[in-house]
Amino acid sequence: MSKKLILAAGAVLLAGCAGVAVAQSGSAPPPDTAVAGPAGPPQPVTLAKRPNATGGEALFVEMCIMCHGANGMGTSLLGRVGRPQPLELRPGLPAAFYVSAARNGIGNMPAIPRGEVSDEQLQAIAEYLAAGPHPEAVQ
Ligand code: HEC
Repeated sequence: MSKKLILAAGAVLLAGCAGVAVAQSGSAPPPDTAVAGPAGPPQPVTLAKRPNATGGEALFVEMCIMCHGANGMGTSLLGRVGRPQPLELRPGLPAAFYVSAARNGIGNMPAIPRGEVSDEQLQAIAEYLAAGPHPEAVQ
């Protein structure tokens, strides 16, 4: 009696497993329609991503874009609300404004010393930005 019961329970279990296996194989999505996971963190903009950048643009990518790129703190986190962002999209500001902002600091941005960016480099960056907006440069 108890042996029969155990056998019957075993048979029910096996049937159940087979059913699950069939259900699983039937419901697995084909690989090409599998749902992708969330996009990863934004990638930093470097000269490798802007191979055609020269002069002030290249210097801006090297010295400023880590904070002033689309996801940089100067654009997204600490930049003041209501300013057109990022810096490469701002029209109509004189080069002297960029030089002064970078040398003296502005709001939450620390002053950038000559040891990091020379006067010549900063002037080239400022002229590049003052000649903006550069929508083609911003991805
Ligand atoms: C360490 C990060 C960092 C670096 C590097 C940096 N900045 Fe900034 N910058 C900021 C932040 C943060 C602000 C926003 C300040 C605020 O609004 O209070 C800012 C604001 C500015 C502004 C004022 C923008 C506005 O809307 O009025 C200018 C101009 C500027 N930066 C120029 C530069 C230049 C040119 C360079 C490169 C030589 C540079 N910054 C590098 C963080 C940085």
